[in-house]
Amino acid sequence: MGSVDQATTGGLLQRYDEALARDPMAALGLVRQWMREDWRSLFAELRAHRPIFVTPAFTVVTRFADVAEVLSHEEVFSVRSFGPRLDAALGAPFMLGRDATPMNWREKGLMRVMLEPGDAGRVRELAGRLADDLLDAAGQRGRIDAVQELFRPVALGVSAGYFGVPGPDPQTLSRWMRAIVADGFANPLADPRIQAASVEAGAELVAYLRGRLAARRAGDVPSDDVFGRLAGSRLPGGIGMTDDRIVINMAGMPLGFVESAPGAMAEAVEQLLLRPQVLAEALEAAGDPERFEPYVWEALRFSPFFKLIPRLCEQDHVVAAGTPRATLVPAGTYVLAAPASAMFDADVVPEPEEFRLDRPRHHRLFFGTGHHACLGVHVAGPVITETVRRLLLRPGVRLLPPPEGSIAYSLGIFPDRFALGLGPGVQEG
Ligand code: HEM
Repeated sequence: MGSVDQATTGGLLQRYDEALARDPMAALGLVRQWMREDWRSLFAELRAHRPIFVTPAFTVVTRFADVAEVLSHEEVFSVRSFGPRLDAALGAPFMLGRDATPMNWREKGLMRVMLEPGDAGRVRELAGRLADDLLDAAGQRGRIDAVQELFRPVALGVSAGYFGVPGPDPQTLSRWMRAIVADGFANPLADPRIQAASVEAGAELVAYLRGRLAARRAGDVPSDDVFGRLAGSRLPGGIGMTDDRIVINMAGMPLGFVESAPGAMAEAVEQLLLRPQVLAEALEAAGDPERFEPYVWEALRFSPFFKLIPRLCEQDHVVAAGTPRATLVPAGTYVLAAPASAMFDADVVPEPEEFRLDRPRHHRLFFGTGHHACLGVHVAGPVITETVRRLLLRPGVRLLPPPEGSIAYSLGIFPDRFALGLGPGVQEG
């Protein structure tokens, strides 16, 4: 069974340097492997010794101020590293694929209005109800695959009940999302089969949403959800969206959510269960959603779902100019901003290894920051925290031994499995 993972003491950079002198491809392979398997150690070493780590293939940015700098300069660090793939899938631009365009500015504003922060209570209630039903169904079995049987169905249920995008069925919606996200974020070698699967899934998704929109216009679908609001929206001055833009923006709702929310829930639950003392305190607070929330957010700081955020450097730029770590990032190269590292930068986050509930909100980078900061944060928050709360309120929730007790990802990004013990049962491990 796992224990709290800590960064080990050094040596990785020396191994990288030696490998680089012999075989640059092998050296990059090592970095990629450490990013997957030993990211805490890699980031700790980089923060201390090479905070802006320029390799022949990409630059990794590890300090808090520098991650914020990269993510706040959309004209220099663009989303062209993945944006064109999203466009290809949806057949039209979506805000996450474009930087500093009037379309991005305008549609993000409109979608912020549609995702009304005041919906938090309703969303929390929906997620809680879905979670309790799923937990009731699993209750007698003594264990649960938290990803397949709880987290993903809750996310898909929220997509249906709040966004108004149930998909033809949850499995198909889930399959479309994975195909599109895989091409954008897990296809480094531009495999044409992954690209074709994404374009096909995107075409099916867009056709489906067009059909839903037509049904709404015909009054066949109840409209008390985000899709209904958007379909009916005509703001003063003719402000609104064409049907084409409504469809693309509705496609972006489940795309931003149905994999990232289960991933974040799994990571937060694991971090809480690895800390018995913290868990006991969290359970004390679990009667009150507001008191419980900070436990989930601090847990997620220890293992955010998006550990790295990719960008393309559009023009030569000195990151951290005027500081001793100032480093030129050359135009045309890839940049990986690392929130997972930034949130452990002791210059900004005091005693980062301590689990603390009083950390200020601006230290949390798991929803990104800057130009592309997460649009869905007011929805994701209550869904993640309420689902985790309902799970932990059940008696006997515990980690199980690996392999099935570890969080399993496919392609390194899609949460697939996370078995937990539930109920009295025999203590395993
Ligand atoms: C209701 C659920 C969600 C929706 C509708 C949503 C939607 C979006 C959208 C549309 C963007 C792009 C914004 C832009 O381009 O300006 C975005 C960005 C982002 N979202 Fe979410 N999201 C949701 C949940 C989540 C969750 C659960 C996480 C992780 C815990 C997450 C993490 C992020 C991050 C890190 C970014 C920044 C990406 C970047 O800078 O490249 N989101 N989200």
